[in-house]
Amino acid sequence: MTATRPQPRPGVLKIDAYVPGKSTAPGVAKVFKLSSNETPLGPSPKAIAAYQEVGTHLQDYPDGSASDLREAIGRAFGLDPDRIVCGAGSDDLLNLLARAYLADGDEAIHTTHGFLVYPIATLGTGAKPVVAPEKDYTADVDEILERVTPKTKVVFLANPNNPTGTYVPFDEVKRLHKGLPPHVLFVIDAAYAEYVRRNDYEAGIELVATNENVVMTRTFSKIHGLAALRLGWMYGPAHVIDAINRIRGPFNVNAPAIAAGIAAIEDSAHQERSREHNTKWLAWLSEEIGKLGLKVTPSVANFVLIHFPQEKGRTAKDADAFLIRRGLVLRRVGAYKLPNALRMSVGTEEANRLAVKALAEFLGK
Ligand SMILES: Cc1ncc(COP(=O)(O)O)c(C=O)c1O
Repeated sequence: MTATRPQPRPGVLKIDAYVPGKSTAPGVAKVFKLSSNETPLGPSPKAIAAYQEVGTHLQDYPDGSASDLREAIGRAFGLDPDRIVCGAGSDDLLNLLARAYLADGDEAIHTTHGFLVYPIATLGTGAKPVVAPEKDYTADVDEILERVTPKTKVVFLANPNNPTGTYVPFDEVKRLHKGLPPHVLFVIDAAYAEYVRRNDYEAGIELVATNENVVMTRTFSKIHGLAALRLGWMYGPAHVIDAINRIRGPFNVNAPAIAAGIAAIEDSAHQERSREHNTKWLAWLSEEIGKLGLKVTPSVANFVLIHFPQEKGRTAKDADAFLIRRGLVLRRVGAYKLPNALRMSVGTEEANRLAVKALAEFLGK
């Protein structure tokens, strides 16, 4: 039968559109947005100044290859700038990778509570998302490897993962890579890498440097505090960079983002302050919320996953409503198959203390 109107490819209509975290609490004077893993310290003042400077010549197209930014990233991490490509957020890069490496009938693996952009990007290409179960809210290498078939073209691993905050130690990441056939692209999404303080963690640079089928994506939205500008980058083998450069928008990264990104990556003191703040308050929140009798999944990122009981009046949904009335906006994570949990970003000291106090009140403690 001939369609009476244009039809998107079938996979598109299987997508549940991404719903970002709420940012408002109606009727509350002071709102603490703890729903999107933004940094409570904001960006480097140098990044704000660089952004503002670009405002005086908005008529100019940006440098389409973001050369200065790629060089600044290269200097910061000791990487070859030719093996870096920048994107409008790492979301852009994850979607470009899916577009370049997936087609109808292919499969891409991600884990049960993995970042939602993976199935969205996969379905958009006509490929099928394959879900590998996790253990203790953590990606499991054997479960992923068991699901590799001749149709598998991409494996997405968020390390650390959002919304669980858990990570896969480097030895395990290497074992996963070793088990993959060479034609499978292994995408390591290290959006929260800067926050991790574990000796057995590595963001993925070494694996990318020494293999032809591994890429690592990074973002300026988290520790650098530039989420509004939409800026991410990817490090990969030359042939993957070449493929992405062919399909990305010619000016996919805007000029204010390039300028602010350079200033941010060079301000290591600001990054260190943000990391220190996070380390301190992540530990505090995990402990204090745990003391209230709620289970908190051990996190190495800038947020915690809090599990609620299923009894009436005590559920995650009830807690969300209670907290919102106090201006505390957390993230419902039902879409991540976690209907009984809320994700809370590490906030300012004020927000963190208020959240723990409010949770205690909610539980009648
Ligand atoms: C695991 C993970 N990857 C990627 C992103 C995308 O970040 P952005 O597109 O802002 O760079 C996020 C944002 O929440 C994330 O949690």
